[in-house]
Amino acid sequence: MRGNDRKLLQILLLWAIITAIIVAYVETCGMEQDESGNSGFHIQLTPQASSSPAFLPVEKQEAKPHPPPTEAITIHRTETHKTTKTTISTIPKNASPKKAPKKAARTRDATYHQPPSGQEGHITRIASGCEGKTKTELEQIFKDEITPMNPDRLHLHQTPDYGNLHNGEYEYKYFNKPFGLRHWFENVLGYPENHAEHDDSIVIVLDPDQILLRPFTNDFSNSSETWRLPEKRRHKLKVEHGSPFAQQYQYALGWMEQVDQKFVFQGGPSPVLKLDKKEADDYYYGMGPPYIATAKDMYAIVKTWSGIVPRVHENFPELMAEMYAFNSAAAHLGLRHTIACSFMVSDIAAYGEGWPLLDKVEAKDVCHNYPQSEYPHVIHYCQRYGIGKWFMSKYKVRKDHISCQAPLFKNPPADVAIKYTKSIYPNKEVKKMNKKERKESAFMVCSMISALNEAAIYYKDNNCDKATANYNYTFTFFKDMRTDEDKKH
Ligand SMILES: *[C@@H]1O[C@H](CO)[C@@H](O)[C@H](O)[C@H]1NC(C)=O
Ligand SMILES: *[C@@H]1O[C@H](CO)[C@@H](O)[C@H](O)[C@H]1NC(C)=O
Repeated sequence: MRGNDRKLLQILLLWAIITAIIVAYVETCGMEQDESGNSGFHIQLTPQASSSPAFLPVEKQEAKPHPPPTEAITIHRTETHKTTKTTISTIPKNASPKKAPKKAARTRDATYHQPPSGQEGHITRIASGCEGKTKTELEQIFKDEITPMNPDRLHLHQTPDYGNLHNGEYEYKYFNKPFGLRHWFENVLGYPENHAEHDDSIVIVLDPDQILLRPFTNDFSNSSETWRLPEKRRHKLKVEHGSPFAQQYQYALGWMEQVDQKFVFQGGPSPVLKLDKKEADDYYYGMGPPYIATAKDMYAIVKTWSGIVPRVHENFPELMAEMYAFNSAAAHLGLRHTIACSFMVSDIAAYGEGWPLLDKVEAKDVCHNYPQSEYPHVIHYCQRYGIGKWFMSKYKVRKDHISCQAPLFKNPPADVAIKYTKSIYPNKEVKKMNKKERKESAFMVCSMISALNEAAIYYKDNNCDKATANYNYTFTFFKDMRTDEDKKH
């Protein structure tokens, strides 16, 4: 059997298990981010005066479209019989925060590549708030550059902007996550009327700055994962109705303690008001994307989530309001989450992420010989990463990285994690690192460079004149990459 056939067979076997996987990337059009936060959500907050609006009943909740922008990516329903290939992930390479114009050009950056992840299913980008020319441009870029990679499986869904509910009474860009998702559920999948067709699909919700490295599945029995809870207290290993999953984030029970749940659920009694601390700690601990649930459960969450998020934000007008509201919604519905650490790596200093997976890999292999089975599922690149003068930050990637003329990133040497004990950032900041930090930094820098190069190569192969396109692996953030540590050798 040839390699390709074997791969296809594996996919078919997996398809027997998973009827459909829907991956949704949710993003705000032209959203500007800063480097201050560490959970991947960054926003300038405008505190609101409390005005006690009535509880927003989920059924009637209809956000008023208002014209700023948001983008998101959704993967929707998989046609069970058309299996060819699998791997699609998205690299939205965010433009620099200060300069990013609110236009679709930014989305050109949001490039899909075909990494070794092997993820199956449909991928939909849910983009909220692009209007007029920006909206059309986004459609066009998507059609020209993204769809051809895998026409059956890559989709774009644009929604109105919900970042500015009630005429600015609640101004918060991240409203676009719950409302954008809800819009997609109702307008693309046809919920609630059409629920029977999709209820058993698996929906995975990712942030736009997450790159898929290892495919998600609905059964984690045999996969390399680390979990928040020891086996005895863990909920499940399989995504099914009543058993959703999420990545652990560090905000613990802040969602309960910092928000007045009585205020949030003032429309009626909620189990959240009587939630036992231990139950909360085990199943509704700080969590965030990737979120995975059956479409039935995800829609239930999304409905409640969008119903309560304006009130959560009113009571707690902070960056985290949208994530806190997700937890409240899950707890309100009694949808116990199994919380994984290994779905994501993002912040080298953070506990509860997939870093222990790196322990199984030697420092010399962390850059170019990393085994796929030990990958965290996604890297969430919302920080700066560096080792020696090898550096990566989404804000510093040149805007034309995905183009015919821009060079590719130079690849770090395989022994980069061993060679350097410090990181030197382009702004001259120097940081001494311990062994663990060096390995983790090297992993992030190397994985991002490899994914960004892959995306650029794909673009060049398909859109540029081969004779003149720049395939040189030469881009670095320093002219001279040597450091005093090299000079010693
Ligand atoms: C997990 O591994 C066991 C033992 O090899 C096997 O019987 C089982 O089918 C596997 N489960 C999945 C979901 O792959
Ligand atoms: C790539 O590098 C080669 C060798 O240095 C050089 O001749 C060529 O002009 C470069 N290509 C581009 C497009 O810059």
